[in-house]
Amino acid sequence: MTLAPGNSPFLVLKNPVMPASGTFGYGTEYGDLLDIQRLGAIVTKGVTSVPWEGNAQPRIWETASGVLNSVGLENIGVETVVREKAPLWSTWDVPVIVNVAGHSIDEYVQVASALDGIPGVAGLEINISCPNVSHGGLEFGTNAAIASRLTAEVRAATSLPLVLKLTPNVTDIVSVAAAVVDAGANALCLINTLRGMAIDIEARKSRLGTPSGGLSGPAIMPVALHMVHAVAHSVHVPIIGCGGISTAEDAIAFIMAGATAVQVGTATFTNPLSMLAIIEGISDFMVRHDVVDVAEMRGVV
Ligand SMILES: Cc1cc2nc3c(=O)[nH]c(=O)nc-3n(C[C@H](O)[C@H](O)[C@H](O)COP(=O)(O)O)c2cc1C
Repeated sequence: MTLAPGNSPFLVLKNPVMPASGTFGYGTEYGDLLDIQRLGAIVTKGVTSVPWEGNAQPRIWETASGVLNSVGLENIGVETVVREKAPLWSTWDVPVIVNVAGHSIDEYVQVASALDGIPGVAGLEINISCPNVSHGGLEFGTNAAIASRLTAEVRAATSLPLVLKLTPNVTDIVSVAAAVVDAGANALCLINTLRGMAIDIEARKSRLGTPSGGLSGPAIMPVALHMVHAVAHSVHVPIIGCGGISTAEDAIAFIMAGATAVQVGTATFTNPLSMLAIIEGISDFMVRHDVVDVAEMRGVV
């Protein structure tokens, strides 16, 4: 299956299942637990122009049916990624998509151009849920015009396939999706985490080291499914569905809503082998229902 249509750069995946950014490190950490070459792709944690230390601890709080996190994009920076991670990726069969983060459009552009043409980097996933420092910390992806400008500038900086990862913290995700596709996105990934908060009433403070964080896990799946369905009906690039997927049934629901591929995040924390079980479960479902190609199920709802 390919992740971008027409004459645009494309990415061929052997199956539609890959990890969600930030839940699978740089792809190297899980090597002892599962055969990562069986995955459709690897998606790295967010990479910035210089190393980021991330937020104060605690960074994770388990909620009913989900997880709140405030990791704050801790990462080793693009130079170290190019020097130490990419050479290993270039020996793998599984394509590696690097997730890109930034505090300014210039930072996204800098990271994208540093990764352009690097052997081992198959594509970029642009996380536009980061705070835009020049706009009072508002997420880039909450404003269609800013998201469009960011996409166009990153598009000009690289020939790699570009996946734009959208934030659900908006009133109209379809308009942001359309804006980034018009500006050159080859594919979309949705959704990132929903803003959330938990309070320790005895200590009278946030359960996280920051006031709020991002909610992921099964709790957000209905929101993600709705957004994938809505966007799939209005834009015509491949969509990677993400948000609360923990079983093959969940993944198939996203495909039926219009997704071409899926990402699995929080479920990996409870079962590191869940992606492999999802790949097998999709195959079993296809055999039971005489489905030859995943595309036959795409968007049927
Ligand atoms: C601990 C943690 C770290 C994350 N880090 C990133 C990140 O670096 N970049 C990004 O785009 N999304 C990040 N995410 C969001 C996930 O990629 C995913 O969009 C979200 O968790 C929803 O999927 P899930 O419910 O399967 O976890 C992170 C999520 C978690 C739980």
